[in-house]
Amino acid sequence: MEQSRIAHSIGIALDRFIKNNQGQFQYASGELSQLLRDIALASKVVNREVNKAGLIDIMGALGSQNSAGDDQQKLDVLANIRFTRALTKGGEVCALISEETESYVDLNNKGKYVIAIDPLDGSSNIDVNVSIGTIFSIYRRKSPEGTPIRDEDILQKGSEQVAAGYILYGSSTMLVYTTGHGVNGFTYEPTLGEYFLSHPDQKMPEDGKIFSVNEGPAASFPASVEKYLQYCKKDGSYTARYIGSLVADFHRNMLKGGIYIYPGTAKNPQGKLRLMYECNALSFIAEQAGGLASDGKNRILDIQPKALHQRTPFYVGSKKMVEKAKSFD
Ligand code: AHG
Ligand code: MN
Ligand code: MN
Repeated sequence: MEQSRIAHSIGIALDRFIKNNQGQFQYASGELSQLLRDIALASKVVNREVNKAGLIDIMGALGSQNSAGDDQQKLDVLANIRFTRALTKGGEVCALISEETESYVDLNNKGKYVIAIDPLDGSSNIDVNVSIGTIFSIYRRKSPEGTPIRDEDILQKGSEQVAAGYILYGSSTMLVYTTGHGVNGFTYEPTLGEYFLSHPDQKMPEDGKIFSVNEGPAASFPASVEKYLQYCKKDGSYTARYIGSLVADFHRNMLKGGIYIYPGTAKNPQGKLRLMYECNALSFIAEQAGGLASDGKNRILDIQPKALHQRTPFYVGSKKMVEKAKSFD
C-alpha cells in the first residue's frame, strides 16, 4: 500500500516555509523572518485567549477609549499587549504603530523595521462568538539605524511595505501573509501548536458575485456607491455577505471572489477604516493575489499618509468588481 494512503502529509510548517523562502527578501538578514515568527507566536497566544473568551473574564468593554474614540474591549487591549511584547523584545523593530495607542512607540533601538498593527479587528464581534482578526504591515525604516525616529519612517506609503498579513480567528485560525512574492495562507493545527501551509500562492478570482457593504448608513453614501449597489441588485445574480469584521469579509471575498466597500458616510466622511493598519496591509495582499484596492479614485498603496490614524474610503476585492464599482463615479 502506498505510504501516503496510510499517513497523509501534514505539509510545510510556517517556520520551515519562512526559512525556505528567506532568500526572496531583498534584505535576507533573517530579521524579517524573525518578525514573522514573532507575529505567529503572539497570534497563537491571542488565539488561545480568543478561544476561551466566553469562559474567563475577558469579554466586554474595558471602560476606556482608543485613539479614534472607540470603546476599547478587553480583548483589544489584551491583543495589543501580546503583539507589542512579541514585537518589541527582539530588537528588530524600532517603532510600533497600533490602533490602540494614540502615538507610535519609539523603541529607541537599532531596529530596522517599523510595524503598524490592528491587534484585534472586528471588536463588535468578540462577545457574540463571530470571527475576528489581526492585521499587520511591516516597513523598513528610512532614517539611519540608531538615530531618532522621524516622520518619514512612520508615515510611509503602503507601496513601501516589505511584508503584510492578517490572522483570522474563525472556524479555523489562519495566518495569511505576503512579502511581495505572492500570498500564502497557513492554517493553525491546535493540537500541534503549528501553522501549516494550506493555501499556497493564493489568487483572488478576477470577478465575483459577493458584495460586502454595511448598508445601514446608505442614505449618506456617495451617489456612485448607491448606483453600484443598485447595479448589484438589478437581477438577483449577486449576493450580499457582511460579517462586520474586515479580515473575515476580506478573506471570504479573496477565496470566493467579491468586493468589500466602506465608503464615506455622514458620520465618517472618509469612511471608517484606517489606512495605516487596516487598508494598506489588505491592499498589498489583494494586489499580490491579483485583486485591486482603491479609495474610489486612487490606488490605496499610493496614498501618502499624513496622520497615524488617518481614515480612507476603501474598495477592495476582485479586480473586475473594483473596476466596475469605480466606473460609476
Ligand atoms: P476594529 O474592531 O479594529 O475597530 O475594526 C472594526 C472595523 C472592521 O473590522 C469592520 O469591517 C468595520 O469596522 C465594521 O464597521 P460597521 O460596524 O460600521 O459596519
Ligand atoms: Mn479593525
Ligand atoms: Mn482593532
